[in-house]
Amino acid sequence: MRDLVTLSHIEGGIALITIANPPVNALSRELLEQLGRRIEEAAAAPGCRALVLCAAGRTFVCGADITQLDQPITAANDAFNPVMDLIESLPKPVVCAMHGMALGGGLELAMACHYRIAHAQTRMGLPEVTLGILPGAGGTQRLPRLAGAKAALDMISTGRMIDADTALALGLIDGLTAQSDAAQAGLEHARHILEQGLPPRPTRGLAVDSGGLDAEALKQALDTAGRNTTHPAARAIVECIQAAITLPFSQGRELEGRLFEACRASDTSAALRHLFFAEREAAKLPGIPSSLQRRPIHHIGVIGAGTMGRGIIMNFLDAGISSVLVDANRDALENGVAQIRKTYESRVARGRISAARSEAALALLAPSLDYADLGQCDLVIEAVFEDMDVKTAVCRQLGMICKPGAIIASNTSTLDVDALARASGRPGDFLGMHFFSPAHVMRLLEIVRGRGTLPEVLATVNALAKTLRKVSVISGVCYGFIGNRMLESYLRETDFLLMEGATPRQIDQAIEEAGLAMGPCRMLDMAGIDVAAKVLLEQGKAGIRPSDPAYRAVVGRLFERGRLGQKNHLGYYRYEGRDAIEDPEVAMLCEALARQHGIARRDHISNSEIFERCLFPLINEGCRILEEGIAYRTGDIDIVWTKGYGFPDHRGGPLFMADRIGLPTILERLAHYSRAQGNEHGYWTPADLLAAHAASGRPLSQWQAPAPTHEPA
Ligand SMILES: NC(=O)c1ccc[n+]([C@@H]2O[C@H](COP(=O)([O-])OP(=O)(O)OC[C@H]3O[C@@H](n4cnc5c(N)ncnc54)[C@H](O)[C@@H]3O)[C@@H](O)[C@H]2O)c1
Repeated sequence: MRDLVTLSHIEGGIALITIANPPVNALSRELLEQLGRRIEEAAAAPGCRALVLCAAGRTFVCGADITQLDQPITAANDAFNPVMDLIESLPKPVVCAMHGMALGGGLELAMACHYRIAHAQTRMGLPEVTLGILPGAGGTQRLPRLAGAKAALDMISTGRMIDADTALALGLIDGLTAQSDAAQAGLEHARHILEQGLPPRPTRGLAVDSGGLDAEALKQALDTAGRNTTHPAARAIVECIQAAITLPFSQGRELEGRLFEACRASDTSAALRHLFFAEREAAKLPGIPSSLQRRPIHHIGVIGAGTMGRGIIMNFLDAGISSVLVDANRDALENGVAQIRKTYESRVARGRISAARSEAALALLAPSLDYADLGQCDLVIEAVFEDMDVKTAVCRQLGMICKPGAIIASNTSTLDVDALARASGRPGDFLGMHFFSPAHVMRLLEIVRGRGTLPEVLATVNALAKTLRKVSVISGVCYGFIGNRMLESYLRETDFLLMEGATPRQIDQAIEEAGLAMGPCRMLDMAGIDVAAKVLLEQGKAGIRPSDPAYRAVVGRLFERGRLGQKNHLGYYRYEGRDAIEDPEVAMLCEALARQHGIARRDHISNSEIFERCLFPLINEGCRILEEGIAYRTGDIDIVWTKGYGFPDHRGGPLFMADRIGLPTILERLAHYSRAQGNEHGYWTPADLLAAHAASGRPLSQWQAPAPTHEPA
């Protein structure tokens, strides 16, 4: 068995216990068992007068092994509380010395010690709520006793980290140290405690300072949290804090245990844990060794100073990378630079960054009207109009002017990346970098792996995404990649439902009630009806638009009528300021289209039909994306939808949700709509993968991709 906890006896009767479980000293069952034994040994050693607990490596304990949350936690198998109790009840003072970060179970362990000190740069927090649970090892009962109930409620319900100064001011720690060696700092503090004759100070025995959180404030907090029906931990946390104020420690912790288990077993927590692991997995490139040499990226270029180009370049400026912004049009370039400046000014005005930081970022920006200024860039991203002819010409030019070894990327949303790669004449150096709007805010980056993209190019851009603080997901080449391809069927059904008699408001409400951030009609109005219509036009040119004349007919007609969405206050809705108002003209337009295409109108369309018709084909398309090897993993698709398309985290993404709904149910509903709507264009044909999983009972989340090959085609 590995030694995860060591005990060394130090002079002066102080025992030093060190946790060593790299990289982040996460607590596991095995580690806690060893910790319990070492503490008992230390306390029983002759002459031992005090104990110091610290961790080796770059940080104190950053949480617990999350995979253990797949099993129920009961009093019988609880590995945490017995160790915490053992520490707290020792008749000798126990000092915890923290450095780096103390998170989750790590901070709970520290709080069970009698005294705490931390290196001045230490950050502390209880982020369990982000996984849909609450701190279950006494954290909800000990934090209010140390930091006050109000601060505890804030920390636990937001999951926010605090710095060491704040922790000291709150009383969570007893002292700060500049000493970088946590063990030495802890030993010094233990000597001080012994010299002062300070006794053990069990946290459970301390009184709770409500910090202004009176009965009325608690009631309000309970009501507010109780309305959050998708996140059961929200209310459970307030209940635990209330218990810390009103009940003895043991009863409070008993309640904490029960509520912890209820939250752990909830669908929300399962979904959030799935996304936590999916995000980590998405960063991995199967078949590409992590040791592969990456290309250096010190200087980049972006072409197109429009909505996307501006946002994209700010990611690089924020990361301290010098950047050239090129546009063919002087006004567009000047406007783009002015918008970038405005964004930084607003960040400064809102106190988000310092004026100096803003100036430093802007100093890295070099606007230009001349493509020749891109010649020395390590990476160039084109973000010009979504038009195949324009993009082809731009990529051809980039192939000629970029220096050897430069990476060339396209931010296209839907066009054929392989065709653009061929146009550049450098398919090995070429890939897609699909940012989402607003690109300086949205965390998702779809990296599109072309048939010829070299592994080192893929690895370089994947690592760069991390530098830019993006969550990257790799997609193969296909129409719309992962996200926009799945969106297509969702928008298709939106227009059909409108023609059949549903209203934009009804559709948006049904989708928003299912938890999505924004319904499809509001979303299209925001993105621009012209943008959507142009995509349809390009589909036609590329021969990939269904032959169905009614296909997305509403968006096409809105565009013809000059309704461009929010930008001219007319789209699926009419806008008064930001208010979207239903417009009888749109209802008439949909009715006329229904007549034109022979679509039967209905008086009532249920919300569940809207949900199923918009989301089940989307799930079905996700299955095709898996079977075609476009996405590496189920979780990658869920990350794209939760990080880029406003799909609710508490549902874990469309494919995680599909498993929860039940694949046989989805299959049966696809068959139902195939009968009800007809299936001339294959809209309702189930993906083989969906049918196979529904038949075998295997969840989609267990789908394993065959190992990808990275042989350039
Ligand atoms: N807007 C979005 O929500 C979004 C999201 C993801 C991806 N995209 C993609 O990003 C790209 C740009 O979209 P946008 O919304 O920023 O467009 P936009 O119209 O706002 O900006 C395009 C810019 O490119 C410039 N330009 C056009 N041809 C050029 C050329 N040959 N050389 C140099 N500059 C040229 C134009 O002057 C304009 O400033 C498109 O491929 C689009 O599909 C857009």
